[in-house]
Amino acid sequence: MTREKDASGRGRGDGEAKSERASRVLVIHGPNLNLLGEREPEVYGRTRLRDIDRELKRLGRELALVVDSFQSNSEGAIVDRIQKARNRSDLILVNPGAYTHTSIAIRDALAAIAVPVIEVHLSNVYRRESFRHHSTIADLAVGRIMGFGAEGYYLALRAAAKLLSGVPAP
Ligand code: DQA
Repeated sequence: MTREKDASGRGRGDGEAKSERASRVLVIHGPNLNLLGEREPEVYGRTRLRDIDRELKRLGRELALVVDSFQSNSEGAIVDRIQKARNRSDLILVNPGAYTHTSIAIRDALAAIAVPVIEVHLSNVYRRESFRHHSTIADLAVGRIMGFGAEGYYLALRAAAKLLSGVPAP
């Protein structure tokens, strides 16, 4: 018998009704990430944000996840979007951009909602200036992926699918 897992992680046997809704992953991109492709391509790569978001949607369908993406240059707008995700999103994949290093408000918003978080950075921040080495959300995150450019988002989405299907993080 083929056994399939729905996005909530519960197994479904042949003929069983698909009762659970698909898991929802919210992807949040912080400031200046709207300029990806033209912004310091030697650091961040040449892939544009809309191409990353399109690929995340496509990969999400392959992984039985619904992916919503949001970008803002404003800290308050990101906090509002995180709050809106409570009771709606099952996991947040976030690249807070420069707010990674400064924002207690984004950290507090993520801590306030009981939703697992994966932190993503295009660049390996530890190979860069020391002010980029601190992250206000690192200890809240289930895991962190950095240094692989756009590919990091896709790796993170695959990790999200595993987590949401019940495979525990070590
Ligand atoms: C970044 C790293 C941050 O230090 C920087 O401010 C960014 C992008 C990254 O994806 O590598 O805007 O989060």
